[in-house]
Amino acid sequence: MKVEAFYDERTGTLTYVVFEPGKGDAVVIDPVLDYDPAASATSYESVNRVTRFLRKHELTPHYILETHAHADHLSGSQVLKRRFYTTQIAIGERITEVQRRFKSIFGLPEHFPTDGSQFDRLFTDREIVRAGDLEFEVINTPGHTPACVTYRFGDAIFTGDTLFMPDMGTGRCDFPAGSASDLYDSITERLYSLPDETRVFVGHDYQPGGRELAYQTTIGAEKAENTQLPAGRDKKTFVEFRERRDATLSAPKLLLQSVQVNVDAGSVPRFLRIPINVFRPDSAEEIQLGPVP
Ligand SMILES: [Fe+2]
Repeated sequence: MKVEAFYDERTGTLTYVVFEPGKGDAVVIDPVLDYDPAASATSYESVNRVTRFLRKHELTPHYILETHAHADHLSGSQVLKRRFYTTQIAIGERITEVQRRFKSIFGLPEHFPTDGSQFDRLFTDREIVRAGDLEFEVINTPGHTPACVTYRFGDAIFTGDTLFMPDMGTGRCDFPAGSASDLYDSITERLYSLPDETRVFVGHDYQPGGRELAYQTTIGAEKAENTQLPAGRDKKTFVEFRERRDATLSAPKLLLQSVQVNVDAGSVPRFLRIPINVFRPDSAEEIQLGPVP
């Protein structure tokens, strides 16, 4: 089994192709659809890079695996599916909770499904899935969002926004239905219980302090050095830290655009909806004061 990483500089996102050389079996994890918010225009540079790699190595992606409904980039899953039409777009089954939540936030039409049926496959916790000669386990790791999953292929895990490089820490937990307490349990009970030599491939890297791009580490290194959640840190300390930090973070640049596309399995609608004051309670309160005399 081999792993090829693709980095989108604009959103700091890692897309991975996991494949069996010479066998043709592959999966794509978290593909990116490029989006310019000023022009409200999509483009395909990121998916084209992945497509070229797949074609060059004569790989057929059995699945496009989403670690969660991303809030910082649009998913390139539908573009890849048009090119590799036998592929299945898959995500954790708790996406239905996220769909219900965002259907009301975005005022999506009554007929918008919240049963996950836009995806080809919904995974249950601890499910073992075959993809040709590849096999992987789905591990629910809620916290950043309730539907977050980690995919484990043998000794390699793909953590999405649950666990980042040790110097970056963990994903934020302030999105609707996010939970720092759940994230703590997911990381300490479900990921740190894996063997120390387990390879960790993260979903983002923002190159803190201007360091080189890094996206691969180990469970042992995370437990020893994760700046926000090393092994042995108590839950109360982590939750207080995470909630305090999250309160200082600004909204991801493509939050409103990406979530509504991604809860619909990456289908790009004719128009996007931009709700006002739903993610900033302070501003909403100010509005409740009424017009300034
Ligand atoms: Fe995310």
